[in-house]
Amino acid sequence: MEAVVDLVPMFQREFELCAVKEGELLILLTEAGTRPEYVGAAGGAALALGAEVFEVSVRGRGWQGTPFTGRGGMSVPALTYPTRLLDVVRDTLSRADFVVDLIPDTIIHRPLRDELKQAGARILTVCEPADALERMAPNASITAQVVSLRDRVAAASELHVSSAGGTDLRFDLTDTNANGQKGYADQAGTWDHWPSALVTGYPVDDRAHGTLVLSPGDVVLPFNRYVDAPVTMRIADGFIDEIDGELDAAFVRDYLESFKDREVYRTSHIGFGMHPAAQWNALSFYDRRETMGMDARCFRGGFLFSTGPNRFTGRYIDAHLDIPMRGCTVRLDGEIVLDAGVLVGAES
Ligand SMILES: [Fe+2]
Repeated sequence: MEAVVDLVPMFQREFELCAVKEGELLILLTEAGTRPEYVGAAGGAALALGAEVFEVSVRGRGWQGTPFTGRGGMSVPALTYPTRLLDVVRDTLSRADFVVDLIPDTIIHRPLRDELKQAGARILTVCEPADALERMAPNASITAQVVSLRDRVAAASELHVSSAGGTDLRFDLTDTNANGQKGYADQAGTWDHWPSALVTGYPVDDRAHGTLVLSPGDVVLPFNRYVDAPVTMRIADGFIDEIDGELDAAFVRDYLESFKDREVYRTSHIGFGMHPAAQWNALSFYDRRETMGMDARCFRGGFLFSTGPNRFTGRYIDAHLDIPMRGCTVRLDGEIVLDAGVLVGAES
């Protein structure tokens, strides 16, 4: 476990970027699996900046939970299902200026996050290992690049992704909800994730068509696993209709089939990794359960394909695969923004 004394300065720098100031109210959202050193470090940093801080800790397990291991990004039952407890937690958190989400499986894909945004809170998710927080610290250059590409994604009508491995897939980006994760939340009513340098967008449901081919070395999250043989997915009208390949394909098929829900085969968001300090090989160093794979998501020049939820259409479902891919070429309205895994027009 990291020493709190080493972490407090990191958290303080991060909270300064999040515009935490004297007199503000911070709440740390935790459960039993939360890294205790992050509770101490976040609390110490908040106090050093003159803020008021306390912890809301919920149970990590519950009878409402699905009997399934590996629900990455799916929070815990207490923050998921409509109960009086969740009402009280939501009401309490809604009164904070700044909520630090220290839930290991995060609240990213739960309505609670959007409800807190609507209440005007700034929300920051922190669940990666400490060296990843330090290594992928935010900076102004990365922020500018993220904002620039986010705006291009928001303005585009079509995304085409291809790869030497055989990917040839089109998305309709009309009126897409583009988001830029810069690694800190400094505006009221916004959420971010430390560490991040990631642009995402939700294409129009039902309009993705083509073939996605994962190449050896591409990553499937939350399996936290590199594929070692090609996986081919055929996609029509926004649904994955076929998944072919060897063991890695069987993992994906088995995972999706287990939910017994046609909706889990839908395409979800797309994304672009942009952090120069993100390491593609990081998953080979970390234990599987200590990371949710932000290195792979944010790897500079990576393209992110995903399946399942879309909060903009009210689709909150438990199955979500994020699949960071290397070496892709991506065009927005015909213009190359990613050339065989190299971001075009972005300063490094
Ligand atoms: Fe995702």
